[in-house]
Amino acid sequence: MKILVTTPTGKIGHRVLRELLAPEFCVRVVVRDPSRLPEEIREQVEVICGSTDDAPTLCRALDSVEALFWCVPTESLQETNVEQHYERFACAGWQAIREVGTPRVVTISAGGKGLARNAGPISGLHAMEEILNETGAALRHLRCGLFMENFLSQARSIQTQGVLSYPMPGHIPIPMTAVSDVVDVALRWLVRGNWKGIEGVAVHGPEDLSFAEAAAILGRVLERPVRYERSLGQDYIRKLASLGASAPYAHSRVNMFAELARGVTRAEPRTLESTTPTNLAEWCAREFAAAGPSLPALPKAPARLGSLAQGWPAGSSRTIADDALFVRTDEHLFAVTDQKPPKVATRAGTP
Ligand SMILES: NC(=O)c1ccc[n+]([C@@H]2O[C@H](COP(=O)([O-])OP(=O)(O)OC[C@H]3O[C@@H](n4cnc5c(N)ncnc54)[C@H](OP(=O)(O)O)[C@@H]3O)[C@@H](O)[C@H]2O)c1
Repeated sequence: MKILVTTPTGKIGHRVLRELLAPEFCVRVVVRDPSRLPEEIREQVEVICGSTDDAPTLCRALDSVEALFWCVPTESLQETNVEQHYERFACAGWQAIREVGTPRVVTISAGGKGLARNAGPISGLHAMEEILNETGAALRHLRCGLFMENFLSQARSIQTQGVLSYPMPGHIPIPMTAVSDVVDVALRWLVRGNWKGIEGVAVHGPEDLSFAEAAAILGRVLERPVRYERSLGQDYIRKLASLGASAPYAHSRVNMFAELARGVTRAEPRTLESTTPTNLAEWCAREFAAAGPSLPALPKAPARLGSLAQGWPAGSSRTIADDALFVRTDEHLFAVTDQKPPKVATRAGTP
């Protein structure tokens, strides 16, 4: 079976590609810069050099392909029209898939279809779905939860300040999915040759989590207090601007979180099939701890304080001496040397 993989150097694409390197598949990739592929991979795949928003490149790449893994690259911080970014790629895909007559396409999309409005990248992905639905191909749109990998962009703040922050309330549960689970679902559809029609396939991760719950889990695995701090939209926009984001990009992110807070992911109810295995604690132990900055462990509190703290709820903090603040996670009692007592999320998620 010949399979075309887009974004073969991306978070999802590079894993999909590795799993397809087996004698029963003939794998082709579209990549802007082939040198970004590891040499041993380059030797085992057919490489088409170019961009996936270019229809002629895609037409060449799709020749005799039975299944296409389609992923629109994440928009850059400088993008000035996030939805158009997704539409541009989708239009090139639409043209090429129609022209070549590609039979099956598996896309990376997001939850909230039919409910999300003006939700930045989520709306862009839903526009992509609509465009590709007109190609005549059989399609499975993988409507993913928020990638757990997003937490890596806050690794430093999580590890050094114990803060996870987004412009959305901390108590609203949303699906959170590890990229490895998305890859597994994508592979299942790509390698099967017997499906038809157009369907959304939710990929929800094992449970919906609020950001306060996610912070508590990250803290437990990283063995340091981590709290969720809701940022105000304007502060979040300023923070993104300081990292080089365009104003439309920053606004689109805030709009996305506002829509998530409105509960748009209920558009795809959780089912046995949409529930995928990797939980946040496992993901964190496997990937965050490896990829995040390595820091010395926080000083554990003296053993004599252990019994004193036994009755404290996990996530609570107490000032015991004038200048020493102690924080209890599920498993440990830490002395926080920073003089400013952090507000520590409690189990219920209230700071
Ligand atoms: N983050 C989330 O929570 C979430 C949730 C649901 C859905 N999604 C969607 O998932 C998708 C991103 O997946 P990902 O994280 O696996 O991707 P990614 O890591 O952002 O990878 C994108 C890859 O695309 C390549 N690329 C960039 N521009 C290109 C172009 N013009 N032509 C061809 N290749 C290009 C880049 O490779 P080179 O630099 O090597 O060319 C890069 O490695 C997005 O559509 C996003 O909206 C994300």
